[in-house]
Amino acid sequence: ERLRAMEKPLLAWYGSRARVLPWREDPKPYRVWVSEIMLQQTRVEAVKPYFERFMDALPEIKDLAEAEDDRLMKLWEGLGYYSRVRNLKAAAVRVMEQYKGELPASYEELLSLPGIGSYTAGAIASIAYGIPVPAVDGNVLRVISRILADRSDIKKASVKTAVETLLKEVMPSDKASSYNQGLIETGALVCIPGKEPRCSQCPMESVCLTKRQGLWKEIPWKSPS
Ligand code: ADE
Repeated sequence: ERLRAMEKPLLAWYGSRARVLPWREDPKPYRVWVSEIMLQQTRVEAVKPYFERFMDALPEIKDLAEAEDDRLMKLWEGLGYYSRVRNLKAAAVRVMEQYKGELPASYEELLSLPGIGSYTAGAIASIAYGIPVPAVDGNVLRVISRILADRSDIKKASVKTAVETLLKEVMPSDKASSYNQGLIETGALVCIPGKEPRCSQCPMESVCLTKRQGLWKEIPWKSPS
């Protein structure tokens, strides 16, 4: 259906327009994991220097598992949401103990680690391991709601689950990384929140029902908090 029609233009756009980012150049599992945790509440441009410094200081999971808390706090200082780095260390300790220092290559096992929810498990599984599972964050929810002109409240957990189910059915099994990152990237750069999405730059413009029907003031719908 409609979502299947977005695959080709999305992958072509991602192949030519994706930003060059440090964790994309060398997507080893540990690097993808740390980048996705940093990106949970922080913008790409702000994350970049922190990511490089963190990787220089703690290049392997073992280094993170053994790092002193003071040192971790200094590396994270300025990024905020410090529970992220506490969970990161706790997960690294578990990976050393339970998985011989290798981040597990399955969505379910990733999900069981501290600090890794459905979005982050999907991002690591797809970007680092090529496993065809969706990675649905706020950006992706907005893009998909708009393509389908779906007025459901994107704050509802049930809506996120429904989008995950849909994407799992239509995503290409051999291009999970580019597909998910293409959706994240269009959400961040093109299908931006608010009244003025950059539809003329969007690879999915011709597929998008919100664009066709002029509904961008109403979709995505978020219930008032
Ligand atoms: N935001 C969250 N994950 C991202 C990724 N892999 N690339 C760019 N922005 C992101």
